[in-house]
Amino acid sequence: MQHILEAIMQAEGAANPSAALASIAGLPIPESYRGMVVRADETAMFDGMEARDKDPRKSLHLQEVPTPEVGPGEALVAVMASAINYNTVWTSIFEPLSTFAFLKRYGRVSDLTKRHDLPYHVVGSDAAGVVLRVGAGVTKWKPGDQVVAHCLSVELEDAAGHDDTMMDPQQRIWGFETNFGGLAELALVKTNQLMPKPDHLSWEEAACPGLVNSTAYRQLVSHHGAQMKQGDTVLIWGASGGLGSYATQFALNGGAQPVCVVSSPEKAELCRSMGADFVIDRAAEDFRFWRDEHTQDTAEWKRFGERIRDLTGGDDPDIVFEHPGRETFGVSVFVAKRGGTVVTCASTSGYLHQYDNRYLWMNLKRIIGSHFANYREAWEANRLVARGRIHPTLSKAYPLEQTGQAAYEVHRNAHQGKVGVLCLAPEEGLGVRAPEFRARHERAINRFRGR
Ligand SMILES: NC(=O)c1ccc[n+]([C@@H]2O[C@H](COP(=O)([O-])OP(=O)(O)OC[C@H]3O[C@@H](n4cnc5c(N)ncnc54)[C@H](OP(=O)(O)O)[C@@H]3O)[C@@H](O)[C@H]2O)c1
Repeated sequence: MQHILEAIMQAEGAANPSAALASIAGLPIPESYRGMVVRADETAMFDGMEARDKDPRKSLHLQEVPTPEVGPGEALVAVMASAINYNTVWTSIFEPLSTFAFLKRYGRVSDLTKRHDLPYHVVGSDAAGVVLRVGAGVTKWKPGDQVVAHCLSVELEDAAGHDDTMMDPQQRIWGFETNFGGLAELALVKTNQLMPKPDHLSWEEAACPGLVNSTAYRQLVSHHGAQMKQGDTVLIWGASGGLGSYATQFALNGGAQPVCVVSSPEKAELCRSMGADFVIDRAAEDFRFWRDEHTQDTAEWKRFGERIRDLTGGDDPDIVFEHPGRETFGVSVFVAKRGGTVVTCASTSGYLHQYDNRYLWMNLKRIIGSHFANYREAWEANRLVARGRIHPTLSKAYPLEQTGQAAYEVHRNAHQGKVGVLCLAPEEGLGVRAPEFRARHERAINRFRGR
């Protein structure tokens, strides 16, 4: 692996890094590489424990794994940096089910997908790095290209996927429902996951928006999601977290008015520093939407709705950006404006939601389910990053060896924005190819750093 890293590092100082990286095409590919894995023989290790007590530091291991063969339409990428997504938390605590079930199912699709069904799962759904090899039939990408990878893996053999690739029956999330993910020195992707790395960002900055930025884009902006428009009021749960920190930026960038919900003064400050005027600290204001495990507190729904109106001068949210799930879904449906939209992509606090349907139908509200993004949406979201309109929200970066600790912090909601992971990159700050453009956005790029 050292010779690959050396070739990439030599390009750092070169006058034309892209030309210097082209020589990577001739380098031999190592037979194995280090990847962060969960193991099939450990899936019962947390049995009987509460989800919150299951510790990713115990189940995530750095392990040498054989390099997979590169198939048609695929690429092998030298991963300089990756990031923690909540799906790696789910994988590492084997909740709501073990991801080995996904690998098994994928392995049954074809001879090529059989490679994914292994007794270890290399996790991770984000990556920034350099293309090392491409498979048969690939024309758009070549060794030496500096790329980020989005996490939509599709077979696209079925007609159903050809209007919106998220509708492909063989749609999967790379590094979660497939193997050879991004928290590793090498990663195997389909080349239609690749996008140009934004030149003004370091490897770890470029690696962190991918999954959440694309998801928030589809959920909030795309015609497949809530189709946010100028002037909309958008209620954003977890507004300084992974998804929320991008949703907040999309709202501001698109002329909408975000109402940011967070759980500490530090997070409230981060939202204000992004440009949000309206912030609710749900912890400080002690909002409790459930009286007990079975009973929601509708007086709290009303208090929350009043609080939003206080801030907005009487407006209810046109859009509610949902992902906490069970704990907040009832109040989300309640506070959405008449004719408004609740758009959901997750259920962190529980997937059996309960809401009062009278508020939905009598007030003509809609609930939209949203999941990741198609290639076009991911590309457009990435282009906004490359243009300096949306910025990474990286708060810190851990070395690959400490991925467990990084996932633990996300699991405990002890992080801000995104937590990065240095894979092959020996230090932070490498990979910037457009320093002058970067200088214009330095403050925004670093907004979450050290938090
Ligand atoms: N379907 C998809 O394509 C997709 C894509 C990305 C993520 N997801 C899912 O979306 C969820 C969030 O992901 P993320 O990356 O944004 O995670 P994250 O970085 O942990 O941020 C989530 C935020 O939600 C807030 N939150 C957590 N529990 C809450 C609760 N009970 N009530 C109110 N707010 C709560 C927290 O903010 P405060 O404590 O500050 O309020 C937290 O910062 C995860 O379940 C993830 O798996 C789905």
